[in-house]
Amino acid sequence: MEADVLIIGSGAAGLTAALQLATSRKVVVLAKGSISDGATAWAQGGIAAVLEPGDNFANHIEDTMVAGAGLNNRATVEFVVENAPVAIERLAKLGVPFNLEGNDWHLTREGGHSHRRIVHVDDATGWAVQQALETAARAHPNIILVPDMVAVDLISGRHQERFSTSGRIHGAYALNRKTGQVETFTARATILASGGAGRAYLYSTAPRGATGDGIAMAWRAGCRVSNMEFMQFHPTCLYNLEVKNFLITEAVRGEGGILKNPKTGHRYMPDYDERAELAPRDIIARANDAEIKRDGLDYVHLDISHKPPEFVKTHFPNIYEKLLGLGIDITREPIPVVPAQHYTCGGVLVDIDGRTDAPGLYAAGEVMQSGLHGANRLASNSLLECFVFGDACARHIEAHWDSLPPPPPIQHWDASRVTDSDEEVVIAQCWREIRQFMWNFVGIVRTTKRLERAQHRIDLLRSEVGDYYSHFRVTPDLIELRNLVEVAALIIRSALSRHESRGLHFTLDYPVMATTAIDTILVP
Ligand code: FAD
Ligand code: SIN
Repeated sequence: MEADVLIIGSGAAGLTAALQLATSRKVVVLAKGSISDGATAWAQGGIAAVLEPGDNFANHIEDTMVAGAGLNNRATVEFVVENAPVAIERLAKLGVPFNLEGNDWHLTREGGHSHRRIVHVDDATGWAVQQALETAARAHPNIILVPDMVAVDLISGRHQERFSTSGRIHGAYALNRKTGQVETFTARATILASGGAGRAYLYSTAPRGATGDGIAMAWRAGCRVSNMEFMQFHPTCLYNLEVKNFLITEAVRGEGGILKNPKTGHRYMPDYDERAELAPRDIIARANDAEIKRDGLDYVHLDISHKPPEFVKTHFPNIYEKLLGLGIDITREPIPVVPAQHYTCGGVLVDIDGRTDAPGLYAAGEVMQSGLHGANRLASNSLLECFVFGDACARHIEAHWDSLPPPPPIQHWDASRVTDSDEEVVIAQCWREIRQFMWNFVGIVRTTKRLERAQHRIDLLRSEVGDYYSHFRVTPDLIELRNLVEVAALIIRSALSRHESRGLHFTLDYPVMATTAIDTILVP
């Protein structure tokens, strides 16, 4: 199939770009499962923007830079923060029913923000945003949404019928889950909007499909990848033996929730940081981890039951209902919580227009590293980044349309030398191993020895998975595993190369922050 622009990913970043481009171009959007399967639909807290009287851009910029521990790119931070109010207005016009207080936005507060700054739709903002974007995209005659289409690899010069060493990207090969066939999607420009890599970890709030496919595909296509050691762990994921990855939004702490040690009942956050429960989430995640490890606990408690029941129910209706269904009445008792992987700060390196190193390839959203987050993302800045960069990619493509060559004739996917797998157990086993050792050796608190152990294991798995991939027909699980191995290797390599503790990268061997902040940039 040929489009003007191919977008891989149908979350906040992909659909924002699609809607902007569709005024003049034919756009094809791929999703590897259903269209609303990404992290966007799962977002709870909301979107950060300067909308409160008394707040200003300088405050939001400063808060973002403080959370990012000096590694942010100031120009990118300014660009995103200053474009935030417009992005919110655009979403409101699309029909996102943000909570209001009279004629004003209702704003919540989250850790690391010096002002109330989070626009939201109750405690299920992402779902409302995804629905509004999807409805508009479905109604647009220039947008084709293609679910169940798993991108395998980007198409470059070496896939042309007339081989070329050009690194230009002309689209992607993708596996149709329904037919089992790999199809060819070509375009003048391709945007990666495929989300993060949270599923490299055993415990994660991210959806099942967050396997870093876009990062791995761009890396294989020759693009630099940056700051992969900065994996964000959310401090408060529900601890429940059946429901494994339900987030308890940061807004619960923003609205007065406190963290307690379940053994002693002690409110411990003031012992760790003067901002207590409103400290940035890396500090709180490490504090929770320390309490759990020191006292041999399964979880810590997050308690909002001291607030009036009506307040709790109206502010957190979805969390209240969900937990009531699990036998926890949050208006009367504390919530058992643990830290879990939550957000991939690193990714494909892009410039302010979302351009990657490969001509014709752009990236927006969690898949990329734009310089906004630095060493730690400020809460609710990531949806914002999707809207601003989705728009930026689209505008750059439109402005440079005439310089983008039409795709040349491309070779079809060759499956003549592979057979159906006779040992699928290998995939499940490798997948489990990676997630387990990434959690234990490349988690919240690191040491060089543990990282080296992880590196030995990933080297072995990489060669096993590479061998498997070259012999057997691709399946969705194999595609994801191949990407997960690649991304885990990038995370480990980046973590080993950072000889300091900064933001989300905390290592006992180098506990001090270096005087100069330098990005980790890996070159393929
Ligand atoms: P996603 O929304 O994750 O979409 C990825 C898309 O890529 C999907 O359509 C997927 O199918 C597609 N895709 C992936 N791989 C392939 C492939 N190989 N082939 C084809 N398609 C592919 N951020 C905030 O700012 N505020 C919040 O309140 C907030 N809450 C969160 C709560 C939870 C539980 C989680 C997990 C995250 C939260 N975040 C929040 C982070 C935020 O939701 C994400 O960073 C953001 O939604 C990412 O959007 P995206 O468009 O980049 O990717
Ligand atoms: C949350 O609601 O706590 C998540 C916010 C975010 O990830 O930005």
